[in-house]
Amino acid sequence: MVFVSASKSFFFFLISTLFCLNQVQARTYLNVLKFGASTDEKTNNSKAFLAAWNRACNSTGQHGVLIPAGVFLLHPVVFMGPCKGSIVFKIRGILKAPTDNSSLLDHWISFQYVDQLIINGGGSLNGEGASAWPQNNCSEDPNCSSLPVSMRLDFVTNSIINYITSINSKNFHFNIFACENITIANVRISAPEYSPNTDGIHLGSSTNIRILNSVIGTGDDCISIGPESKNINISNIYCGPGHGISIGSLGGSKNEGDVTGIIVRNCNLKGTSNGLRIKTWAPSYPLLVSNITFEKIKLRNVSNPIFIDQQYCPSGNCDQKSSSSVKIQDVKFKQILGTTNSQVAVNLQCSKSTPCQRIELIDINMGYIGGDKVPITSQCANAHGVASGKQRPRSCL
Ligand SMILES: *[C@@H]1O[C@H](CO)[C@@H](O)[C@H](O)[C@H]1NC(C)=O
Ligand SMILES: *[C@@H]1O[C@H](CO)[C@@H](O)[C@H](O)[C@H]1NC(C)=O
Ligand SMILES: *[C@@H]1O[C@H](CO)[C@@H](O)[C@H](O)[C@H]1NC(C)=O
Ligand SMILES: *[C@@H]1O[C@H](CO)[C@@H](O)[C@H](O)[C@H]1NC(C)=O
Ligand SMILES: *[C@@H]1O[C@H](CO)[C@@H](O)[C@H](O)[C@H]1NC(C)=O
Ligand SMILES: *[C@@H]1O[C@H](CO)[C@@H](O)[C@H](O)[C@H]1NC(C)=O
Ligand SMILES: *[C@@H]1O[C@H](CO)[C@@H](O)[C@H](O)[C@H]1NC(C)=O
Ligand SMILES: *[C@@H]1O[C@H](CO)[C@@H](O)[C@H](O)[C@H]1NC(C)=O
Ligand SMILES: *[C@@H]1O[C@H](CO)[C@@H](O)[C@H](O)[C@H]1NC(C)=O
Repeated sequence: MVFVSASKSFFFFLISTLFCLNQVQARTYLNVLKFGASTDEKTNNSKAFLAAWNRACNSTGQHGVLIPAGVFLLHPVVFMGPCKGSIVFKIRGILKAPTDNSSLLDHWISFQYVDQLIINGGGSLNGEGASAWPQNNCSEDPNCSSLPVSMRLDFVTNSIINYITSINSKNFHFNIFACENITIANVRISAPEYSPNTDGIHLGSSTNIRILNSVIGTGDDCISIGPESKNINISNIYCGPGHGISIGSLGGSKNEGDVTGIIVRNCNLKGTSNGLRIKTWAPSYPLLVSNITFEKIKLRNVSNPIFIDQQYCPSGNCDQKSSSSVKIQDVKFKQILGTTNSQVAVNLQCSKSTPCQRIELIDINMGYIGGDKVPITSQCANAHGVASGKQRPRSCL
């Protein structure tokens, strides 16, 4: 009896193993070197990369493009879908952007209309930003032409970016636009604190996005969330230097979609010029920002740790009498602790014409960096809600 049942289960084991092996078809990788790519750092590799992409994208089954170890100079390029199946873009080497600052394109590396894309491989993107940052005059000129984003995903669905490093982008490192169901995990992003507009990851018009287990140090927001973002989960992010984790700026253009369902959890911010921030223009177009949770966040030596800024004015020439029409409601700050170098640790500056509703402060424990010699405070304007648990500084709600 024992023997029979043992052999029976072995039989099932064998059958199921064979079945599984049969199911897991090996992925075929096309190496860009076979398509004429070169690591001489002079060749424009866009053509070779595109040839490999088009072949992989256009074949049925499981395919991928492999960029092996080595440094590849790559001019601006768009990898276009839809593809015939899932596709992997495996970067083992280093992709290097051109150092000329003449590109008027919005991208360096762009993926459009791709479903089931996986970008991984442990390699890196070097945006050569230092060659272009002096050209950035956006702080003086609202009409400035923007520099290329290192990696753009436009209209991409059900996709994953995993184990990729991005350094010194000319503009944002990653821009996610009109995408759905994207996971960004285990990325490392770095650019100097003084580099202009080098946001780590910017999202807009996208739904069901997860950003996790990543380290972001840069010159602008570590993560910024633009209009029409829905169901976004951000967790286990180390941020700093940078401008913190921001929702906004919002309300600057007509017909922006609402922002709702954002969770930022288990993150660490160190030495950033803002902590957790929601920023809107004034005056502004109307828009709803709702169901936002910031939870279990550790801050060290951060300026403006908790900040709702409905009078956002980075260039300092705004009409302080005008108010924002962006409505902010159901925002929770829970278990936020650490140190700040701002005397106002909790700053809720809501709109006079559309005050904030249902703001919750739960277990806030902040202290001034280097001891309690400097008292810290909270300031509220047009903010309605409740505070519970520990409140240090004392709540103004
Ligand atoms: C690089 O190659 C691509 C693809 O062939 C081409 O479209 C582009 O103009 C080239 N750029 C430069 C600067 O040579
Ligand atoms: C895919 O193949 C079709 C026809 O075989 C062709 O028209 C199309 O340009 C190809 N697309 C790419 C991305 O190579
Ligand atoms: C790049 O920017 C620098 C500094 O702004 C400028 O001197 C140089 O002419 C620019 N080069 C190009 C190719 O635009
Ligand atoms: C900003 O730079 C652009 C392009 O280099 C230039 O055309 C524009 O005049 C500059 N604006 C200011 C205010 O300097
Ligand atoms: C921005 O430039 C456009 C043309 O490129 C012009 O029509 C517009 O008036 C400019 N806006 C400002 C604020 O300078
Ligand atoms: C989201 O995308 C991932 C990766 O392609 C996929 O495994 C998962 O099934 C997708 N989820 C939904 C709800 O489509
Ligand atoms: C985000 O987390 C919430 C609660 O943990 C969950 O309901 C939601 O589906 C998650 N969203 C994404 C995009 O993973
Ligand atoms: C708030 O957003 C979270 C995360 O996206 C979601 O799971 C939850 O259902 C939303 N709650 C409401 C009341 O909409
Ligand atoms: C705190 O940050 C400021 C800059 O924002 C920096 O000058 C200072 O050295 C930092 N202090 C500590 C103790 O890290």
